[in-house]
Amino acid sequence: MGKKNKTGRIEDVNRFPNVIQYVDFEDEHDLKGKWSSDEFGNGNPITLELACGKGEYSVDLAKKYPDRNFVGVDIKGPRIWVGAKEALDNSIPNVRFLRAFIDHLENYFSKDEVEEIWIPFSDPYLKKPKKRLTSPKFLKIYRNVLKPGGIIHVKTDSKVLFEYTLRVINKENLKIVSRIDNVYQDAPDHELLTTIQTYYEKMHLEEGKTIHYVAFKLSS
Ligand SMILES: C[S@@+](CC[C@H](N)C(=O)[O-])C[C@H]1O[C@@H](n2cnc3c(N)ncnc32)[C@H](O)[C@@H]1O
Repeated sequence: MGKKNKTGRIEDVNRFPNVIQYVDFEDEHDLKGKWSSDEFGNGNPITLELACGKGEYSVDLAKKYPDRNFVGVDIKGPRIWVGAKEALDNSIPNVRFLRAFIDHLENYFSKDEVEEIWIPFSDPYLKKPKKRLTSPKFLKIYRNVLKPGGIIHVKTDSKVLFEYTLRVINKENLKIVSRIDNVYQDAPDHELLTTIQTYYEKMHLEEGKTIHYVAFKLSS
């Protein structure tokens, strides 16, 4: 099974055992608070990849860190299909995909259930800052699922989103753990940032764009 059309991918995603899908936007999911015990069956810490698209970070981090669990979250089934299929084909046990709106994350994860969050190349929403995944509205949601001290990693080609994120961090008095303004120039040996490249990142690199990174905690 190579490339599939959209309908074929949606049919696959509906039956893939490593994809969990929303049933009702308003409902709390049965897995809330139980991902490690009931879904992964290992009690290991959970990292989320938000706006995961094809899930490169989820799959590659899962391979690299077998003692941790990874959940890629995106609303688009045909994109999730790529990562979910790779994980199934390669029998990667510690990665799942959640097809849901990130806006409803608290319906899926309980307080302190998540240890770390990656947000690679999320939409900059140039005219709608409130929809940005680093807006105060979303940070409030992350605060309700992320453990105290948990790190949020943001990687982006968008100067607008990068500078906006830095402003939000500053305004909310949050702690920056690492800031790299030009990843490939300033930190060429940073393994996690340079060896894992997402679909969107590859497109941006081909266009010669600069990649920015900031990691921060939701406390000061
Ligand atoms: C620009 S793409 C980046 C995908 C991937 N991270 C990459 O770098 O290739 C942004 C992704 O975010 C997803 N997305 C945007 N807002 C979302 C939301 N509120 N809830 C769930 N997914 C969302 C879209 O479906 C899309 O796949």
